[in-house]
Amino acid sequence: MQLKGKTALVTGGARRIGAALCEALAAEGCRVVIHYNRSAHSAEALAARLRRNGAQAWTVAGDFRTGNYRSGNHRMSHSADRVVRQAMAVAGKLDILVNNAAVFDKQRLLQVTTAAIRAEWEVNLLAPLLLMQAFARRVKRGGIVNLLDCRIASHQSDAVPYSLAKKSLADLTRLAALELAPGITVNGVAPGPVLTADTVGATRESAGPLPLKIRPSVQAVVKAVLFLLESDAITGQIVFVDSGRHLLG
Ligand SMILES: NC(=O)c1ccc[n+]([C@@H]2O[C@H](COP(=O)([O-])OP(=O)(O)OC[C@H]3O[C@@H](n4cnc5c(N)ncnc54)[C@H](OP(=O)(O)O)[C@@H]3O)[C@@H](O)[C@H]2O)c1
Repeated sequence: MQLKGKTALVTGGARRIGAALCEALAAEGCRVVIHYNRSAHSAEALAARLRRNGAQAWTVAGDFRTGNYRSGNHRMSHSADRVVRQAMAVAGKLDILVNNAAVFDKQRLLQVTTAAIRAEWEVNLLAPLLLMQAFARRVKRGGIVNLLDCRIASHQSDAVPYSLAKKSLADLTRLAALELAPGITVNGVAPGPVLTADTVGATRESAGPLPLKIRPSVQAVVKAVLFLLESDAITGQIVFVDSGRHLLG
């Protein structure tokens, strides 16, 4: 797909990898809808910056968790469908969906609670599924990229709900690629340790063993996403951007 003139919805697009994706898509001539949850200020600032640089950009808010399971305070409907509808309403059309929003909590098997599993799966698995569904119901030709994690290739036990959600999303990426062909390509990018929880730039925290001995950069992740969106003959593919970490199991 030629990116120029296309419209992209990037979930969790206000900060970090999501913001870099929005910037890169805009630089390629895309119109960008920045989804955010808590980062309203960053999302508006990013949209304003993109517009100053000549791009068209909008923001759409939405919490992908349906409730606070600890307090028993639930709402029944997920906001994914509304986010896609609002994105189409502000931008007029959509061609691209990048499922980037996620939560990452370190929880080992013996500490995991039902509430924690639900909370992580709602954002990391249910939201991408419902967003792909809402997108595919309205878009005939387009591209989807799901942000995964190189943990899908291993059995690291320090973040159980997160890892299981990303492994399922990898499966869902292939399943959706078949289901949504021929009109929509669906691919995944599985980053290694790019950024730690609260840092944006270089970090002193160890990235663990990496065959290539370099921490993968945000730009490397962005490049893979753009490549997959531009590739008309690639679907159901997962590209690891992890300096070879997945090879170690
Ligand atoms: N960072 C890494 O090194 C790394 C490594 C492997 C894989 N990945 C994957 O790459 C993607 C981007 O990574 P990242 O570190 O940049 O992500 P991140 O900062 O942890 O999260 C991205 C965004 O997700 C949104 N989000 C969180 N909870 C939400 C909710 N309940 N509803 C709606 N949106 C919600 C947040 O938006 P608001 O700020 O607006 O609340 C947040 O800014 C993720 O899918 C991640 O799993 C990252």
